[in-house]
Amino acid sequence: MMDTRDSIRPVGPVVIDIENITKDYVMGEEIVHALRGVSLRVHRNEYIAIMGPSGSGKSTLMNMVGCLDTPTSGRYGFNGRNVAEMDDDELAAIRNREIGFVFQTFNLLPRANTLRNVELPLIYAGVDPETREERATQTLIDVGLGDRLHHKPNELSGGQRQRVAIARALVNRPSIILADEPTGNLDSKTGEEIMSLFEDLYRRGNTIILVTHEADIARHARRTVRLRDGLIESDDLMTVPELESMALT
Ligand SMILES: Nc1ncnc2c1ncn2[C@@H]1O[C@H](COP(=O)(O)OP(=O)(O)OP(=O)(O)O)[C@@H](O)[C@H]1O
Ligand SMILES: [Mg+2]
Repeated sequence: MMDTRDSIRPVGPVVIDIENITKDYVMGEEIVHALRGVSLRVHRNEYIAIMGPSGSGKSTLMNMVGCLDTPTSGRYGFNGRNVAEMDDDELAAIRNREIGFVFQTFNLLPRANTLRNVELPLIYAGVDPETREERATQTLIDVGLGDRLHHKPNELSGGQRQRVAIARALVNRPSIILADEPTGNLDSKTGEEIMSLFEDLYRRGNTIILVTHEADIARHARRTVRLRDGLIESDDLMTVPELESMALT
């Protein structure tokens, strides 16, 4: 039976199973409770937008999901395995092969050109130089930067830097893409181009979680999770009429 909002529940296997996670940051005398008990279950090939005010814990949650940081308490299951019991090699394998991360602050190497920045995850993954250059170039062409391969980050526009960061996240063909404000610094036209890139990845079966402040961007996702003060305030699936109107566009 459908619920009253006529939404379609995802049916794929659970890839991310976060149970009652908290995160405290200790700052001298002061403790910041960035996450205060968050549970989030994500199925393969979901497309989720995470929204919420500045400081509500969105980036903190994304860092947990991406295995870049560990929770203060609670449990994180990734593909059915307890992340807390994984060793460094297993965690590195997840970060390098399964998850592509687009950071809010890009995190590009300032001295390396576009091509080298995008090749970086392939170096960690042990891919040979020739294949590396080939794949990095193709991914950069895919995001519209085929003519900026030899520019350094400070020789690119903000939107171009963002696209380098996105290409770097995609170059290993991860099945899960985590993007923290991927359109935050872009004009709306470039933002829409990035969103059609994500739509394409989603339609090819990838799982996408993105943080955004903008309702226009969140509309592209099939599920919206709202955080407030380190807690989930709402978690809504797109309704059938909304899904149908998306299929028409
Ligand atoms: N490394 C850190 N040390 C101490 N406090 C931190 C740290 N990182 C985040 N915080 C605090 O934790 C809270 C949540 O931060 P977080 O970065 O997750 O917010 P956010 O929702 O991503 O905000 P924004 O929309 O501005 O990016 C904030 O109050 C922030 O000041
Ligand atoms: Mg943030």
